[in-house]
Amino acid sequence: MSQRIIVITGASGGIAEEIIKHLPSQDGLVLLGRDRAKLEDLYRHIENKTCIEIDITNNQALQSVIDQIYQQYGRIDILINNAGFGEFKAYDDYAFEDIEEMFAVNSLATIHFSRLVGKRMAEQGHGHIINIASMAGLIASAKSSIYSATKFAVIGFSNALRLELADHKVYVTTVNPGPIETHFFDKADPSGDYLKSVEKFSLKPEYVAKRIIKIMGKNKRELNMPFALAAAHKLYILFPRISDYMARKAFNYK
Ligand SMILES: NC(=O)c1ccc[n+]([C@@H]2O[C@H](COP(=O)([O-])OP(=O)(O)OC[C@H]3O[C@@H](n4cnc5c(N)ncnc54)[C@H](OP(=O)(O)O)[C@@H]3O)[C@@H](O)[C@H]2O)c1
Repeated sequence: MSQRIIVITGASGGIAEEIIKHLPSQDGLVLLGRDRAKLEDLYRHIENKTCIEIDITNNQALQSVIDQIYQQYGRIDILINNAGFGEFKAYDDYAFEDIEEMFAVNSLATIHFSRLVGKRMAEQGHGHIINIASMAGLIASAKSSIYSATKFAVIGFSNALRLELADHKVYVTTVNPGPIETHFFDKADPSGDYLKSVEKFSLKPEYVAKRIIKIMGKNKRELNMPFALAAAHKLYILFPRISDYMARKAFNYK
């Protein structure tokens, strides 16, 4: 396999760390995060990499980082919009600023990166944008209103972008996992109660990473996991009222 240039946001841990761990060593990695020293330390064993510190909620910084990557590498083959966070709270418990930050990181940064890099990929005539959304962007649940909204936005945007980029041989995939055992829950669910209650279908980050690696460079529309939640999503579309009832009564884990 020839060298691919892969850009990953939110590279400092979780799913991203597992993806990076399992990628072939010849790939050229551009690892974005909020703390460059942390990235350099975590990935000191990786040779073909550039670690960049960036505030992805700063639109000017996004433009500059993409220019920098194109100057250095001349192309991006795969973009993984992975940075994101959640907070599981009742709908009236959020401050305005919390909501705005979640949209800025989860939705707007993903949208801006995808647009800016998508245009360059279209000019190149190839590329793959992988947007890490969530099962929460397919099935809404109580105490996840804002997080779900940010991920529904990512999926809606990605579904449209896929249509616009298809003729340029640029693929757009959404990855929609259920709960994964990462530090995501330190903020989303500080008590640990939710993660405990969904233990039976929670995923290991290594498994999710390997599934993502398998579809890199392939024209895959969406990657939904685990199987049980992917199936639940099909039922959610077919029987929305019954699904809402079940989500409120039997499957209200938060
Ligand atoms: N864990 C789950 O259950 C689960 C399920 C479905 C989808 N997801 C999605 O998967 C993606 C990766 O999550 P993960 O599970 O790997 O969690 P994680 O271990 O907490 O990693 C999330 C990454 O996002 C970045 N990030 C978090 N808050 C940020 C902020 N305010 N500004 C900029 N960057 C921020 C962090 O990178 P830096 O500190 O380097 O900036 C961090 O490395 C997220 O988009 C998440 O929504 C997670």
